[in-house]
Amino acid sequence: MAEEPVDESARAPGAGSKVVAGNWKMNHGPAAAERFFARFSPAVEEGAVRLVFFTPDLSLAAAADGARVPAEFGVQNIHWEGSGALTGETSAEMAREAGAALTLIGHSERRHIFGETDAEVGRKVRAAVRAGLAPVVCVGELLEERRAGRLEEVLRRQVGAFAGSLAGARAAMVAYEPVWAIGTGETATPEDAAEAHGIVRSALGRRVRVPVLYGGSVKPGNAVALMSAPDVDGVLVGGASLDPDVFARIAEAGAVAGPGGG
Ligand code: 13P
Repeated sequence: MAEEPVDESARAPGAGSKVVAGNWKMNHGPAAAERFFARFSPAVEEGAVRLVFFTPDLSLAAAADGARVPAEFGVQNIHWEGSGALTGETSAEMAREAGAALTLIGHSERRHIFGETDAEVGRKVRAAVRAGLAPVVCVGELLEERRAGRLEEVLRRQVGAFAGSLAGARAAMVAYEPVWAIGTGETATPEDAAEAHGIVRSALGRRVRVPVLYGGSVKPGNAVALMSAPDVDGVLVGGASLDPDVFARIAEAGAVAGPGGG
């Protein structure tokens, strides 16, 4: 594995700005993806933020073709094998060939609904890096873990399962998504986010300098404050990324919050 530290590619559209990423989850088929961009593209200022969309696999091409703004596209999950008798799965290589530049890995819904483990997350990260797909790895604690004062222990364990594999990646990101804030309307305060992001950065170590995004009930009304918090380089948005007008307002918030870090 290469020993060069990860440094975010300056070639990405909007590089150096906040990352505003949408995770459509299991929403927006190809026709809806086209309709989304017909409305979203004229509503956003080009290059003000780094726009990323994690679409369903089947909508990736329609989204990438329909976007009339510079944006990057990714899938929401991969398998760690390159090919084989694994019905229903998609490999990193196939996602790349289909036009994905990034992939989410270890999203809380994958971990908690589909039982994905830290070890599997590690394997998927290595597969993505091998295939030249930028991993966007999600971490975050359950409410009971936070209440039990285990935030730091949980984040260090989750990050520890993949941090070593990021050292060879050309590009990568980490998303801190507290499980209790996903789809609940309940958001971490900017202070909570800054604390957790500080832990994630420290667990990644000095050799891995990648953007760390916040996710969990991000809305136009809280996006500026969250993206202005220390160590928050952008947002990963679920529900509020489905409506083009609402998501355009979050992109605007990213421009107001200013340059990203990483
Ligand atoms: P919501 O923005 O709907 O809370 O979802 C967050 C998320 O899971 C993004 O990956």
